[in-house]
Amino acid sequence: MTKIVVANWKMNPQSVKEAENLFKEVSKVASKTKNTKIVVCPPFPFLFISQKLKNKKIIMGAQNVSIDEGGSHTGEVSPDMILSMGAHYVIVGHGESRSRGESNEIINKKVLNLIKFKLSPILCVGESNRDKDGAYLSFVEEQIKACLSGVPKSQMKNVTIAYEPLWAIGAGAQREATKEEFMEIKIFIRKVISDIYDSKTAHTVPVLYGGSVNSLNAGYFAKEGGADGLLVGRDSLNSKKFEGIISALK
Ligand code: PGA
Repeated sequence: MTKIVVANWKMNPQSVKEAENLFKEVSKVASKTKNTKIVVCPPFPFLFISQKLKNKKIIMGAQNVSIDEGGSHTGEVSPDMILSMGAHYVIVGHGESRSRGESNEIINKKVLNLIKFKLSPILCVGESNRDKDGAYLSFVEEQIKACLSGVPKSQMKNVTIAYEPLWAIGAGAQREATKEEFMEIKIFIRKVISDIYDSKTAHTVPVLYGGSVNSLNAGYFAKEGGADGLLVGRDSLNSKKFEGIISALK
């Protein structure tokens, strides 16, 4: 499977000018890259940049979507709007969105809305605590089952799962996962998908790792840990660091 590296810019940078500069730098990196899919997910107001500064090697993504298709929903962004900006992927269920109250039920509505409009969800799952009794496994299982509820098997080819343990992501990260922790959860995620659908379907779904990914651990996760790709936050905001991550996958 071709490895995917997703740049999750989160709520950065703070101006169009900075966003254009970052996009230009990432474009240079992408132009030199072979055999890796590069997905850039800027905040909504910066999605237009890819239309202005076209780069065929970069696939665009958004960081959220409405549960609705359009109409009177102040502050919301519909799947059609995202599509018309040329984006293909949408991150849903990110830990930082869940921490603001997004439930599995809402995420499920977003996944279904995306699928209806032929957009590809990157569904984030992950526990807040790796307890010794293994309760995190049933927690992740519940997230996957609830968030994929009603998604037909035929649509699973458009779904990507990102395992992002909450203790490993963002500015408050305690540590990154180990490759053993990732390998265990990847097998488990495949088993859960296999239980819902079948094993063939489970093996078509890319399982990414996200959480404190940097150029030093990228190869460790993608090669030794068997991640199908990486979801990168902080180190996607610096093109040199991002290039280092992509180079580590070679
Ligand atoms: P991080 O963020 O790489 O800054 O830990 C990853 C994410 O939250 O998607």
